[in-house]
Amino acid sequence: MNEKIEVKPRKALEVMKPYSPGKPIWEVQSEYGLQHVIKLASNENPLGPSPKAIEAIQIALKDLHRYPDNQSQLLKKTIADYYDLHADQVIVTNGGDELITLVAEAFLDAGDEIIVPGPTFSEYEFGAQLMGAKTIVVPLNDAFQYDAEAIVAAVTDRTKIIYLCSPNNPTGTYVAQKDLKYILDTIPKRIMVMLDTAYSHYVSEELYSDGMEFVRAGYPLIVLKTFSKIYGLAGIRVGYGAAPQKIIQSILQVKEPFNVNALAQTAAASAIGDEEHVLRSQALVAKERERMYASFDQLGIKYTQSMTNFVLAELGPESESIYMRLMAKGIIVRHGKTWGLPLHLRISIGMPEENDQFIAALSEILGSV
Ligand SMILES: Cc1ncc(COP(=O)(O)O)c(C=O)c1O
Repeated sequence: MNEKIEVKPRKALEVMKPYSPGKPIWEVQSEYGLQHVIKLASNENPLGPSPKAIEAIQIALKDLHRYPDNQSQLLKKTIADYYDLHADQVIVTNGGDELITLVAEAFLDAGDEIIVPGPTFSEYEFGAQLMGAKTIVVPLNDAFQYDAEAIVAAVTDRTKIIYLCSPNNPTGTYVAQKDLKYILDTIPKRIMVMLDTAYSHYVSEELYSDGMEFVRAGYPLIVLKTFSKIYGLAGIRVGYGAAPQKIIQSILQVKEPFNVNALAQTAAASAIGDEEHVLRSQALVAKERERMYASFDQLGIKYTQSMTNFVLAELGPESESIYMRLMAKGIIVRHGKTWGLPLHLRISIGMPEENDQFIAALSEILGSV
């Protein structure tokens, strides 16, 4: 069949690899013949979606024959009010992922450079590859902390965007507010910073900033946020960016007309005000994160203090085999090789009983390694 196809894809595609997500529950159930499978692999909210979002979706179902609002006006206004911004400083997207691609499409030309402290979320590099831009990785230090001076030192005439994932996926570490300010104040004005704060709601550290004060002050900064994590809406795909209006205007030029579906818009607008769900979700993670640390301490496992709903643990050379053996027991986590961390596992915080089962399975495996 394929011999009839002589159409060549763009050259840029030669280097692009598909995103590798956490394994879905159904796949592990069918591969291993298991009924009960626990997924601690995609940093989802184990408490489920915001109940207010579910109510809003049910009301909106009867209007599904209508196109959604192509500018997500109501949601934009709700977000803007929440963060004390103007509605034209917000863009709503089909998940944070779409925002990352749109930013690349709007700002990157072939030959441009982006700076990415790593290891980190892979989608920034994906956006750069899509546009033929080059990714310059500035390594995090040995404790996976950001080195603001090294980031600034990596700037060249070709640098267009600096991506800061804070708190960072997969390490859980963050950029301190003073370092963010230092970077913003030091780099040339032609460079934009994207601060990815997908996990900001889980941060308990006072030195952290989600960057909104710098957006309000007019810095060339775009803050990414998502409804996939704390609000529990990963399945419906909605996220947003907040930036000075001029930056938002450029991104709107490459946005598809109806990028965010009607159910996602109404669900997100309700979820943002669902303080009870947010507080419950924060409390669960704060408590369970500590319990996971305590279990790791007992087992003599090294880990990185996390400001997110996941923990990066160093399991050593056996970590891939441990990952596979956990899966065979019906527990899905992520092996660090996706991020060039073959000695590590990343474990999302689940419900208390799920975390207990993970620790019990891990203890059993370690006992026999
Ligand atoms: C750091 C980071 N940014 C952005 C996203 C994108 O989230 P979504 O596209 O679900 O909004 C994720 C998802 O895992 C993430 O970990």
